[in-house]
This record gives sequence, C-alpha cells and structure tokens, in this order.
Amino acid sequence: MAASHHVDHTGSPDSKKTDFSTLLKRALSRRGFLKAPVAFGVSAFVLGTASPQTAATAKKPIFNFPGVGATDADTITVPEGYDWYVMISWGDPLFSHGLPFDPDTRGTGKSQELSLGDNNDGMTLFPISDKRGVFVVNNEYANLDLLLPNGIQGADDIRKLKAAHGVSLFEVQSINGQWKVVVDGRLNRRITADTPMEITGPARGHALMKTRNDPDGISSLGTWNNCGNGQTPWGTYLTCEENFNGYFGSADPTNEPTAMQKRYGVGNEDRGYSWYQYDTRFDISKTPNEENRCGYIVEIDPLEPTSIPKKRTALGRFKHENAEVVIAANGHVVVYSGDDERGEYLYRFVSKNRYQPDNDAANRELLAEGTLYVARFNEADDNLSGRGEWVELSHGKNGLTAEAGFSSQAEVLVFARSAATVVNATTMDRPEWVAAHPKKAAVYCALTNNKNRGKKPNRGGVETPVNGPNPRVGNLYGQIVRWRPDQADHSAKTFSWDLFVLAGNPTLHQGLNAGSNNIHPDNMFNGPDGIVFDEQGRLWIQTDGNYSNQRQFAGMGNNQMLLADTQSGEIARFLVGPVACEITGATWSPDRRTLFIGVQHPGEKGAPSHFPDGGQSIPRSSIVAITRKDNGIIGG
Ligand code: FEO
Ligand code: CA
Ligand code: CA
Repeated sequence: MAASHHVDHTGSPDSKKTDFSTLLKRALSRRGFLKAPVAFGVSAFVLGTASPQTAATAKKPIFNFPGVGATDADTITVPEGYDWYVMISWGDPLFSHGLPFDPDTRGTGKSQELSLGDNNDGMTLFPISDKRGVFVVNNEYANLDLLLPNGIQGADDIRKLKAAHGVSLFEVQSINGQWKVVVDGRLNRRITADTPMEITGPARGHALMKTRNDPDGISSLGTWNNCGNGQTPWGTYLTCEENFNGYFGSADPTNEPTAMQKRYGVGNEDRGYSWYQYDTRFDISKTPNEENRCGYIVEIDPLEPTSIPKKRTALGRFKHENAEVVIAANGHVVVYSGDDERGEYLYRFVSKNRYQPDNDAANRELLAEGTLYVARFNEADDNLSGRGEWVELSHGKNGLTAEAGFSSQAEVLVFARSAATVVNATTMDRPEWVAAHPKKAAVYCALTNNKNRGKKPNRGGVETPVNGPNPRVGNLYGQIVRWRPDQADHSAKTFSWDLFVLAGNPTLHQGLNAGSNNIHPDNMFNGPDGIVFDEQGRLWIQTDGNYSNQRQFAGMGNNQMLLADTQSGEIARFLVGPVACEITGATWSPDRRTLFIGVQHPGEKGAPSHFPDGGQSIPRSSIVAITRKDNGIIGG
C-alpha cells in the first residue's frame, strides 16, 4: 500500500519551515537559554553582558558528588565515595544446566538460550521483597564479530544469534549488600527471536498480519532489536522493538521491496545476520507480511514465566525506542514513544479505558485499545520554546482516508510512519528515550543527533529543514526537548515546549554548537539517548554518542551518564563507561541504594576494550551495579 504525502492544511505546515536567517535572528534574541556570545556560520554577534552561564556556575552545586572528568579509560569511572561491581555479563548462565561463559567458543545455540543475551539495553527490576526481585532486561542486538569470531557457519550459529536477542528475565537477591543473579530462579526465562507472541489490538487478524504459518494473523514468533523499555503500574514490562528491519533480506536479488517495506527500511539486504538464509520467515520474497508483525511495543508479565508476551499494535508500528507510561489525571494510560530514525516522529498513546488501581486484571488489557497521536511542534519563539499539539492518527480523521491510502485503523497503525507524514507531524532529530517527571506534568525526550537535519529528507521523502525543537543543521551533538501538557493533563491535545539542554562543545564553538548555558567544559557530552527519572525527580542522562574524544568531540571522552536537576538546569557528569561502549538502561534496587546501569558493546568494531574481565579478555556487555560507600541514596 502506498500512502500519498497528502498534507492536512488545517494545521500550520508552513510554520515548520525555518530558514537560516530566521534561525540566526532567533539565536540572537535568545537570553535565558543559550550562551553568549553567539556565532553562527560566517557571522558573529555579541550579546549583552549578562551571560546566564556565569550565574549558573557561581551557584553552589546541588549534587553531593564531585562531577567526574571526561576520560577514555577502559573502566567504569564513578565519583569519590561510590563503588561499582558487575552483576552479570553477556553469556553468563541463568540456569544450572547452562554452561559457564566460554571465551574461546563463546557458547553454542543451546548455551546462549540459557544465558544472558548480548547488548543489554532497557531494564527494570521488579521488587518481590526488600532483598529479592525479578530483573528484566532487553538484549538489543548481537556483536557478530564477538559472538561468532569465525563468522556464520551453520544453523547453530543462527540459533545462537537469535538467542542472543530478545529479553532476559532472572531473579536477583541481595546478599551481604551485593545483588546476585539467582541461577535457576523460578521466574528465570529467556525470550528470544523465536518465542511465541500474541498479536493484540486493532491490527490483530488483519490481512497485513497474516502469513503462511499464521493464516489468522494473531500470533507471531519472537521479538528482536529490543532497545529501550517501560514498565506499567500493573506490574508488566514493556519491551520496544526498534531496528527490526535489519533482520530481513531476500535470497532472490530480483525481489522488489514494496513502498511500505522501503518506508521502514526493509529490503533485500539485511545487516549481516543472515537469518533469512536459514529461516524463510525473514526472507521477504518468501514470507510476505512477516515484517508487519514487528516494530511494536510488547508487554511481558515477569511474574508468569509461561505467559505469552503481547504485541500491542494499538501503540503503532515504528522503530520504538522506549515506552514511558504515565497515568493521566483522568485515569487514562498515556504511553509516550519515539521513533528513533533521522527525521522520524514522536508519538503518544492514550488508552480507551481508565486505569483502576485495584483491578489489575482489567488493567492488563489497557494497552489493547486506545488512540494514537503524533507530535506537531509549532515554531519556536525567541527562547527556543513554543507550543505544540498531538495530532490524532485515527482512520477517517486528519486526512487518514482511503484516498490517502488508509482503508482501516489497522493500516494506519501498521504504517504509522506514513500516517504521521500525512498529518504533517514534526520531523525530529532521532527521538530516543522519553521520560516523564514523577512529580509534575513535564515530559522529556532525548533527540540524540541527526547528521541529515537540513540536508536530506527522511526515509519517507519528507524534507527536514531545521524546526522548533530541532534547531541545528547537521545536528552533531543532540538535545533534550521538554513539554508540559496543558492543564497538567497528559491526555490534553496541546502543550508548551522548550529545550532543556542543547548539547555542544563550548571549547570549540560559539552559538548553537557551544550548547545551552548548562553545558560547560566540565560536563559536556554528545548523543543523549537513555533518560530516566529517579524517584526524587532528578533526570539521569545516558549517552550513545561519538566517543572518539577528538575533533568536534574533543574533551568529551567515552560515553557516560550524567545527572540533571531539571529545576535549575544543572548537569553533572556522574559516570564514564569503558572504551567504545554506550550506557544503556537504568533501574534501582527496592531500597534505592543500588543503581543498575547497562554497559553495551564495550570494544565495538574491534576497539581496544577488555571490559569487564581485564587482561586480554574479550569485551562483554554487562549490567553494572553502583553503590555508595556509605550506603546512601545514589546521587544524593
Ligand atoms: Fe537502540 Fe535508539 O537506540
Ligand atoms: Ca537507545
Ligand atoms: Ca542510540
């Protein structure tokens, strides 16, 4: 199906276009947000004397730890007074009939099915008691050269790769202050690219979801490329399917991918996993529609190890980063989720039914039915802030008609990207995690970077000039946008937005690429990705940026985690990861005195890392626990 790029002129499409001079004027008149002086392109202008940065740095820091310096050390660096240890790494067994990790063979298909998957990302520790819980963590993708140093040689290698993906669940227990994996815990479970799933919501049973092996279009196999996550107040885990497209290919090179396959990046060539050569499910020339059965948020019950995970089509199909769940004041469940690709969109789901605090059986189906929206940010005012609205993606509304290529709500959801284009949603600089403030109605989204901004259209052919919350051409450093729903109601149609931080390098640049006034040489970073609030309402920022520590990124060191006070805007670097990793996911122990974070792909692409085992060992993605030497609350 090919949706046209019909534009709904009831909106304000023209206001999305911003030319260079408008941007420059805006930069000049900015006061509260950006540093002075401002320089942009060939022109340089000097603002008045009141540099807001001076005031900010003169204040007493609100954090009780000294920010750590940027470093390229191959270890975890934490502030004075903090400790860390590795709880589990890729390949460590969850079951006693598994095998200890073997650095020579790096395991088999079977041993991988019984152990922690690769590249841990989003995660949640669900408490069972003060000292026990079930830990759920995504395994986003596989480091092919580490899992299979001799390449893919047969079916067992494919089995191993599929098992390195998905979700790992295992019980954990605190023993003498250290959290340990409970091998053979009753709730231990591996969910892989082959685990049976139920398809729920409006696309369940639709023709687009039917395959030869599932002629009813109601059950699929597996989840893969699970990036960020979410959790619900009724105790389920949400895993988010992101770059699902890279696993499909075609043995027939003459196969012509459809327009909608192209819209989602599905084509004849995969990203090197070769699954389609062993499993026709992943061959788009042989199994039409399989690709329509991934790209969802999947709900998992961590307390029922035999439960079937549920794909939630009502929340739309795109490259979901994470799923931030909020209960709106009126009881409706709101789920925010970004589509992490250059120039794609930011979405919001509002459940049809209301959350019932004492009826978890009913709550368990809240994500089956509701309304999907996409964000339209109106043009920025002088302070890089403005207004915005959520545009409904419902069949028959806002131009989402048969004429535009949508004959049902199922088609709107399965091709949500196209629907969002039709309603003229705002193209974003790769929306990564969304995080909602726990105490007030304010929501944050990390926009990690976008080298194509202002240079190339998105995959749907939509031009991507700079716009309100995405103000930089070829955005190198990333930013975090914040919005406040009107009437503090997460289900409201409209909101106000501003930029919480514009990352940059103030040692090299002036103007927009120096970053906002809360960025200085001691806390600069690039590539904000994971963002998570703690219970105290402080924002933890994790990076997946350029870790070369050179040129545009000189002085930023390895990927890292920072802590932000969203009230004052202050940001301090809390942790730096080992060589060539990214920091992914955050969750706390029940007493909040241990913070778990992910170290993903240390030593990727052959970079010299031996984390965590040291010596000449191969690098392994790991879950790291952070504690305070005085057993205090992390971050103070
Ligand atoms: Fe898997 Fe968008 O990071
Ligand atoms: Ca991410
Ligand atoms: Ca990322």
